[in-house]
Amino acid sequence: MTWNFMCLILSLFLSQFVHSLNNNTTDSLDTCLQDFAFRTLIRHRPHTGNLYNAMLPANLSGMSVSIVRLRSRRLWNRGANFCNFHIPSRTIPVPHVKRLALVYHDFGNWSSHYYTVPGYSMITPVIGFKVFDASNMMSRSVKKLSLNTMGKPIVIRFSNSTLSDGMVSKARCAIFSSNGTLHLGEITLANVCFSQDQGHFSIVVPLKRKRGQWKLWAIGIVLGIGGFILIGYVVIASVKVLKAKKIQVMEKQADEDLVLDTIWVGRSKMPSATVTRTQPTLEDGGLP
Ligand SMILES: *[C@@H]1O[C@H](CO)[C@@H](O)[C@H](O)[C@H]1NC(C)=O
Ligand SMILES: *[C@@H]1O[C@H](CO)[C@@H](O)[C@H](O)[C@H]1NC(C)=O
Ligand SMILES: *[C@@H]1O[C@H](CO)[C@@H](O)[C@H](O)[C@H]1NC(C)=O
Ligand SMILES: *[C@@H]1O[C@H](CO)[C@@H](O)[C@H](O)[C@H]1NC(C)=O
Ligand SMILES: *[C@@H]1O[C@H](CO)[C@@H](O)[C@H](O)[C@H]1NC(C)=O
Ligand SMILES: *[C@@H]1O[C@H](CO)[C@@H](O)[C@H](O)[C@H]1NC(C)=O
Repeated sequence: MTWNFMCLILSLFLSQFVHSLNNNTTDSLDTCLQDFAFRTLIRHRPHTGNLYNAMLPANLSGMSVSIVRLRSRRLWNRGANFCNFHIPSRTIPVPHVKRLALVYHDFGNWSSHYYTVPGYSMITPVIGFKVFDASNMMSRSVKKLSLNTMGKPIVIRFSNSTLSDGMVSKARCAIFSSNGTLHLGEITLANVCFSQDQGHFSIVVPLKRKRGQWKLWAIGIVLGIGGFILIGYVVIASVKVLKAKKIQVMEKQADEDLVLDTIWVGRSKMPSATVTRTQPTLEDGGLP
């Protein structure tokens, strides 16, 4: 109970820091969910092949977790068909064990809390499953297994997907592998993903923002350049005006300061101070 509680606190705490893909954080959440699932199984004295819903704390309501325990022989003969996941027959757990447990997750409205795909938006909840050794239910630690499907795909159906036919070519199947990598696969059949192994899955469509963003950038740059030019123009214009004013003031002052006699030289009016000894003459001497 205390372990459960600590798990919960830990996962809620860690979830604040999740910014991208399946990583250590979701790993620790998965560990908690698996813990809840196994407790459910122990409480039930389970029949193999029966699916049990795990009791989750109120804090995680919106998620659902269920667990089924199977003999490996049954998986080989019939495959497993639970919670919208179809694992084909002729599948073996690796390493081989006598009994295995499949834990199914549906993150519901918590999906985008724990998983994001950069550049895409998820149009379905994230669902997934994990495989564990269930040979000894009383063992303290549960061992993770992987599956070998002999090349056949595991089929994942998104029953609540709103993917329209027109969007199928643009949509991608986001596969969050248990090793923490994200793979975006093409969708060939509406609302269906294929995988070779366990993991978490969602259907994503590209965000439409890209073109809009490009446009905004362009508009921003044009406006910015325009603004600079305008400011430059205003600065130059005001400097010119100031200069002109200054010159005017200086001229005015000059006019007031020295009221000089002026004489006409050629066709120009020239100042002529009283002290001037030599009268200014034009060089070609052409007096009128
Ligand atoms: C996992 O988290 C680390 C930082 O803690 C980050 O550097 C790394 O890229 C992440 N891995 C993936 C697959 O997102
Ligand atoms: C987190 O993941 C990295 C690799 O992505 C690994 O080296 C590290 O041991 C992990 N930390 C924990 C606490 O699991
Ligand atoms: C929910 O989690 C908070 C801590 O994040 C805890 O204080 C509270 O008791 C939890 N409530 C339930 C119903 O588990
Ligand atoms: C998901 O929905 C449940 C109610 O169904 C709510 O209690 C929970 O806070 C929601 N989670 C998030 C992350 O919004
Ligand atoms: C589909 O969505 C409805 C409401 O949004 C929900 O009640 C139902 O459980 C969902 N079905 C599955 C298979 O997720
Ligand atoms: C992670 O697993 C996927 C398939 O499950 C595989 O394609 C990929 O190469 C693996 N990546 C690493 C780093 O192990």
